Amino acid sequence: MTELNTHFGICGRVTFSEVAGGLIVAEVSNEQATARIALQGAQILAWAPVGEQSVIWQSLNAIYTAGKSVRGGVPVCWPWFGPHPTESGFPAHGFARTQNWEMAQTQQLTDGTTTLSLRLVQDANTRLLWPHDSELLLMVNVGERLQIDLLTRNTGSETFTVTQALHTYFAVSDVREVSVLGLEDQPYIDKVVGGARDVQTGPVRFSAETDRIYLDQGGESVIDDPGLQRRIGIRREGSHSTVVWNPWAEKSLAMADMGADAYLGMLCVEATNAAADAVSIAPGEEHRLQVSYRLEQL
Ligand code: BG6
Repeated sequence: MTELNTHFGICGRVTFSEVAGGLIVAEVSNEQATARIALQGAQILAWAPVGEQSVIWQSLNAIYTAGKSVRGGVPVCWPWFGPHPTESGFPAHGFARTQNWEMAQTQQLTDGTTTLSLRLVQDANTRLLWPHDSELLLMVNVGERLQIDLLTRNTGSETFTVTQALHTYFAVSDVREVSVLGLEDQPYIDKVVGGARDVQTGPVRFSAETDRIYLDQGGESVIDDPGLQRRIGIRREGSHSTVVWNPWAEKSLAMADMGADAYLGMLCVEATNAAADAVSIAPGEEHRLQVSYRLEQL
């Protein structure tokens, strides 16, 4: 810990500490916002522009333990999204979200924002799941906007294909009252009804379990939350699909790290490369998935 603080701590801006379950988190604080990022999974756990509650949701029943993704925050799903395409025994959503990452750099920028860069630690165990020579970096810029860049580099000699997600859980007043704009008229795969195809009519609203992959081309969507009198603007680059997920009552109750009514206060709108939107990366090439969030008061 002392070493982390010596090398990557920034006085009054970035501090590392050990929290429950032995997880290490970076606490970030600047004039524009605060954030918390766990080194396990490079998982952003909170981001709050000054004067606001965290825009990023975390379950009150979240379990902090080594090797388990915390329920909430921004889990990084990589190098596959959802179940592995051929190996049913491989972990859902890949291994990046449960693996340790190392700090690569921290920087306080002249515009008042703070940037943290983390690198995934790949080892003999992850090579069993993913034998490709690759580097994965996550850059987080904390300010009145939160920008996240996920960079996949092919450092080997053969092309590989990834699917991936920045699986962000947003805090909402009441999911039954919010809507997602920007996905109108887009085709989607409905995972709740066995992968049936449909097309979105109007804004996305929530009255039951929702688990959809929108195969849209656009890069912007908005969570409209009249209850909190705010809108969350979402901009994506390097991503041509969006996953919208809420487990609803029954599934929420069945998850030990969610609980009975937890689903009401959260909504996942995920910047993805999923389904047909898989990304092939040639040797020496890289792919950047970028998302940025901005809060607008109504
Ligand atoms: C979503 C998937 O991205 O993640 C859902 O579309 C899945 O199908 C959800 O249930 C949560 O996954 P997990 O592994 O974190 O419980």
